Amino acid sequence: MIGVTGSTGRLGSRIARLLAEAGVPQRLIVRDAERAPALPGAEVAQAAYGEQALAGALDGVETLMLLSATESADRVALHKATVEAAVAAGVRRIVYTSFLGASPGATFTFARDHWHTEEHIRSLDVDFTFLRDNLYLDFVTGLVGEDGTIRGPAGDGRVSAVARDDVAAVAARVLLDPGHSGAVYDLTGPAAFTLAEAAAVLSVATGRRIGYEAETLDEAYRSREAYGAPAWEVAGWVTSYAAIASGELSTVSTAVQDITGHPPTSLETYLANRPPPT
Ligand SMILES: NC(=O)c1ccc[n+]([C@@H]2O[C@H](COP(=O)([O-])OP(=O)(O)OC[C@H]3O[C@@H](n4cnc5c(N)ncnc54)[C@H](OP(=O)(O)O)[C@@H]3O)[C@@H](O)[C@H]2O)c1
Repeated sequence: MIGVTGSTGRLGSRIARLLAEAGVPQRLIVRDAERAPALPGAEVAQAAYGEQALAGALDGVETLMLLSATESADRVALHKATVEAAVAAGVRRIVYTSFLGASPGATFTFARDHWHTEEHIRSLDVDFTFLRDNLYLDFVTGLVGEDGTIRGPAGDGRVSAVARDDVAAVAARVLLDPGHSGAVYDLTGPAAFTLAEAAAVLSVATGRRIGYEAETLDEAYRSREAYGAPAWEVAGWVTSYAAIASGELSTVSTAVQDITGHPPTSLETYLANRPPPT
């Protein structure tokens, strides 16, 4: 039995659908059973990360696809409680969606959460596979402001953003093959581009003039003050750009091709197949 969390979301729903198409039984562990996708071979259990209900939801699950939780101040604690519940329930392997370059000092502050979660999983008696996704392609295309400008402290750095479809395809393969135990995969697109290059590609794809303006870190923090978000969240937003500037998100990996047998989706192909709203 494969347990899948996050199937009400954009990545988890894709993974669950691929498993269903492969005819594999799975248990969708969701926060709200009414929103679980209806898929052949899938049963549904209701539990949020860190909740007592996880014990029952995980009972009989051998391999767990653990999607990282929505960012919050206590995300690492939620992840830790969830992997501990999984091990206590007898889960033998955890496949976890981490982040490219996860480390305690990563420029992108949310990537630090992933490193702490990885380390906790490593400390437990359980097999694991870590999928270190880069920023998703639609996250990057979603950076365009209403005035058609991407503004952030990304300098001239590059980002090898990856399609959610490619991450889901890798996850499905990895879940079905225990040979991936112990592996850590960087999941990236086929090339790393600057945000100025992304703006140019977006301009062609949308027929709208889209530009990029590099901010300083100070400007970025000041321009986001008005949203009234907590400091940890603003830091996450700003450092996602700063991580691009630092070069930490520019790695280009062959893992999508190696594992799925097809090349990763480029920004151009992603936009051609699914034009962003204009
Ligand atoms: N690499 C990137 O560019 C990027 C961008 C965005 C997010 N992410 C990370 O990648 C994860 C998956 O991405 P996505 O695009 O599929 O995000 P998404 O569409 O927001 O889906 C997140 C999924 O995780 C579930 N979830 C969140 N917090 C939970 C909790 N505390 N307990 C139980 N379930 C929880 C959500 O359940 P509900 O439907 O009940 O909310 C939803 O099913 C995100 O959660 C986030 O950590 C990465």
